[in-house]
Amino acid sequence: MNRVISIDGPAASGKSSVAKALAKILGWSFVNSGEFYRATTWAMLDAGVDVDNEVAVAEAAGSLELSAEMVDGISQVTIEGKPVASELMSSPEVNGAVSKVARVPAVRELVVERLRALADAYEVTMEGRDIGSVVFPETPYKFYVDASEEVRQQRRAAQGLTDQIAQRDRADSQRKSAPLTIPQGAVIIDSSEMTIDEVVTEIGDNLENGDFDFGGPRP
Ligand code: CDP
Ligand code: CDP
Ligand code: CDP
Repeated sequence: MNRVISIDGPAASGKSSVAKALAKILGWSFVNSGEFYRATTWAMLDAGVDVDNEVAVAEAAGSLELSAEMVDGISQVTIEGKPVASELMSSPEVNGAVSKVARVPAVRELVVERLRALADAYEVTMEGRDIGSVVFPETPYKFYVDASEEVRQQRRAAQGLTDQIAQRDRADSQRKSAPLTIPQGAVIIDSSEMTIDEVVTEIGDNLENGDFDFGGPRP
């Protein structure tokens, strides 16, 4: 495993914007782990899998050709070797079904294997729900980005996306398998009243207080 910076948090807390900006500054690669669950969900809906049926989802996961490649330092998820368009992954249908698919252990095992393989090949900033707690519990660089539910709902609405984030957060926090949680040792940042650049700067300061040479220009 190469160096990994993990950024976990609830929906629309700013994880992907922050992780992407950090990767750019460091010259590392960026991995949005949610896209693996979203692409999986899209493929299952497309194949007519009943996502309320955990057994059916687990079975479908067993034959799913899920992979990823790095394109310009950003992970791109593929199904059967083809990239999945971001509009498909952020559709209302996928938003409504992804937590059901992501709670199934067979799906999580499949995705976690892909995520660890990426960290074997690249230095990555990776964001998600269980990156610091389950996928890379041994990384010393863990962050948990939060924001009030009101602010997060506003951010998602401003993106023009239909997304019941409160419902998704509840499902993600209450599931048995790798729930959304603050990883042990994570630095918590409440970004409710912070810009993306301010969050990135705070993470950079935290890293430099440790043994980490942040280097490069700050935002
Ligand atoms: O962008 P947003 O935070 O709204 O969601 P996302 O990161 O794209 O994740 C979509 C869904 O995938 C989440 O609601 C979780 O159900 C699942 N997920 C997960 O279970 N574990 C992860 N590490 C990342 C996402
Ligand atoms: O990945 P996650 O769902 O946690 O959030 P995101 O996709 O990075 O951010 C959701 C939206 O909130 C984007 O439009 C960001 O530009 C915006 N945002 C913001 O306005 N202020 C922040 N501190 C973080 C994100
Ligand atoms: O469901 P059907 O077999 O008719 O088509 P599909 O190959 O599953 O693709 C449905 C839609 O998703 C088409 O518009 C494809 O272009 C698109 N798609 C995609 O964007 N990315 C993929 N990896 C596969 C399909």
